[in-house]
Amino acid sequence: MSDSSDILYFDNNATTQVDPLVVEEMLPFLRDHYGNPSSAYRIGRTTRDAIEKARARVAGLLGCEASEIQFTSCGTESTNAAIHSALRMDRDRQHIVTTRVEHSATLKTCEGLAKRGHAVTWLGVNADGQINLAELESAITDETALVSIMWANNETGVLFPVEEIARIVREKGAVFHTDAVQTIGKVPVNLSAMPVNFLSLSGHKLHAPKGVGVLYLNRKTKFTPFVTGGGQETSRRAGTENVAHIVALGKACELAAQGIAHEATEVRAMRDTFEAGILASIPGAQVNGDRVNRLPNTTSLAFSGVESEALLMLLDQRGICCSAGSACTTGQHEPSHVLRAMGYDDTRARGTLRFSFGRFNTPAQIARALEIVPQVVEKVRRVNA
Ligand SMILES: Cc1ncc(COP(=O)(O)O)c(C=O)c1O
Repeated sequence: MSDSSDILYFDNNATTQVDPLVVEEMLPFLRDHYGNPSSAYRIGRTTRDAIEKARARVAGLLGCEASEIQFTSCGTESTNAAIHSALRMDRDRQHIVTTRVEHSATLKTCEGLAKRGHAVTWLGVNADGQINLAELESAITDETALVSIMWANNETGVLFPVEEIARIVREKGAVFHTDAVQTIGKVPVNLSAMPVNFLSLSGHKLHAPKGVGVLYLNRKTKFTPFVTGGGQETSRRAGTENVAHIVALGKACELAAQGIAHEATEVRAMRDTFEAGILASIPGAQVNGDRVNRLPNTTSLAFSGVESEALLMLLDQRGICCSAGSACTTGQHEPSHVLRAMGYDDTRARGTLRFSFGRFNTPAQIARALEIVPQVVEKVRRVNA
């Protein structure tokens, strides 16, 4: 049975439903086309050609050259590859600049490097979730190997001014990586006009399956492979290619390019209707972070006097999927590091839910959620009173 029959799925920043058109495109590569892309005979060429078609489609969405696209297993691998490569380029440049609100893919990796003796500068954010660009500029030194700053925050949807950040980093002579896992497919991106060295994206955030990602590697950027072995991906990422998933990601990127206007209009309208409805019907509800520079699909809402874990449980019983903080930290019951970095107290952080919408949501679902969520918050508040 499908999971989605009577579910109100508002957790698209955690993962997305695979688009049926994507499934259709990938199935022949599970069922029929099993050739190894490195093989010289015809059935190998079929899968090799399919990979190259997918590469061109991803490049089309990002506004870059196909040769700059390197397939990986996920966003986390892409980010690890970028960070470790940058550190191997120059012995005298071993300092990293990042922010306190990164996804654990960057956060934990940089914490691990700090433990092993690397200097790491952690940029803070203000209550809107924004960094100070002057602080960024002065943090970059002659010893800085890499600046790694996410494009959109997975918990709040806050967008950093990545074009400006990339220019500052380039002027200071350092290498720039952006974790764009939450950005790609939601807002237009044109890498040909931006001095970005590395960018990470993940298939399962844009209606492709889990287990495939991309590292964009600017053609002028030096790179040392993170995964070594065979000569796949022009020797930049070893391992026999995950052909079906790469094909799926290519299709997902084509669909994302076609649907980007839908994100800016319909998805945004659903988010805004939901947010306005919640603010109007639930006393004391507040939006976390910058409401202007934000992904069109995300709202992070704080409800005073409640624990988000209790809300999540009751909402699940009523068929609503959303999350408290990021999916990766759910279950730990620790207040979100992002909301803490924004200066919110633990009570606000613990009473926060993230709703993230997508192309498969409908206005009717939003209307239904606007009946359910206020009832659930009211119920939990009554129990707590
Ligand atoms: C901003 C951000 N970066 C990285 C990741 C990790 O991506 P993946 O699940 O493909 O490893 C996520 C997933 O939640 C994310 O939201």
